[in-house]
Amino acid sequence: MSFTIVEQVPARMNRSELAVPGSRPELFAKAAKSAADVIFLDLEDSVAPDEKAAARKNIIAAIEEVDWGAKTLSLRINGLDTHYMYRDIVDVLEATGDRLDLIMIPKAGTAADIYALDMLVTQIEAAKGRKKRIGFEMIIETALGMKNIDEIAAASPRNESLHFGVADYAASTGARTTGIGGPHPDYGVLTDAAEDGAARDYHWGDMWHYPLSRMVVAARAHGLRPVDGPFGDYSDPDGFRAQARRAAALGCEGKWAIHPSQIALANEVYSPSEAEIAKARRILEAMEKAQKEGQGAVSLDGRLVDIASIRQAQHMVRLAEQLSGD
Ligand code: COA
Ligand code: MG
Repeated sequence: MSFTIVEQVPARMNRSELAVPGSRPELFAKAAKSAADVIFLDLEDSVAPDEKAAARKNIIAAIEEVDWGAKTLSLRINGLDTHYMYRDIVDVLEATGDRLDLIMIPKAGTAADIYALDMLVTQIEAAKGRKKRIGFEMIIETALGMKNIDEIAAASPRNESLHFGVADYAASTGARTTGIGGPHPDYGVLTDAAEDGAARDYHWGDMWHYPLSRMVVAARAHGLRPVDGPFGDYSDPDGFRAQARRAAALGCEGKWAIHPSQIALANEVYSPSEAEIAKARRILEAMEKAQKEGQGAVSLDGRLVDIASIRQAQHMVRLAEQLSGD
């Protein structure tokens, strides 16, 4: 281990994070009753400019009046480049009690963006005597944000998670796709011609591999949760599942749902299976035995397990305990 210890943010279930437009108050109670771990009430891109002020009022009422149960509640504010943002923070934080948990910061570009918001939120918390510290979740969805991702991740003790905003990221980088998440038919590999003249194969690749991996590294290096963003085609559950599994395989802890039908899919993918948990427990038992016998590596079911396997298994068991509420 490095002498630098990475402090983890407090554990919070983040398997599914449901987006709810602030301009559609009829959805708030349905969102509260859903199985989503986190709800974000949106003031940004799902709300038209003429509706921003009304959406803010809807959200203030909803934070106060809706029974959100044990859910984590977040507010997505407008970008720092708009004239809406200061009121999103000032109006909502001044008019509400301590129910709101997080503020989601879209298009986070630099550490200074986070610093500026931290200052504003800190002043309002102090002035209003708010008791619960608001946390920040940052969407990485521009080339600038991806370039500065480490500084952004380290910019405030309020930071809890990084989210990959695939559609804006595609726009910002000039990626040739208009879909929201998922693969692209042009991003693939054509195999070499075979000597026997057999047909060449075309393998689809994952064009989001780099940004997602980059985000996972930045998040984990700063003790934050990495979370995959939206998958736009909500009539394609198999496509959603495949994307969610890829992101989970890389280390993400959850994924957004932009429609209620995606909540169960995200919860399913991001909850470890019974078999995975049982295997992790067996690894821990095997390693405990090995260590008692003075060994650092042993074989389990014909495969190597060593001290790194303990850490992976501990991560899995911790996740399982968190889910079962232990
Ligand atoms: N939260 C809670 N409930 C929702 C919901 C949401 N985000 N989206 C839809 N529902 C409800 C509908 O009201 C409907 O309820 P009912 O069965 O009681 O009538 C049910 O779920 C099925 O919805 P459906 O009719 O299929 O969807 P829609 O046409 O009303 O809305 C979207 C589709 C995509 C416009 C809507 O889901 C939405 O606004 N999603 C969030 C988009 C967003 O916030 N984007 C920004 C982040 S990328
Ligand atoms: Mg966006």
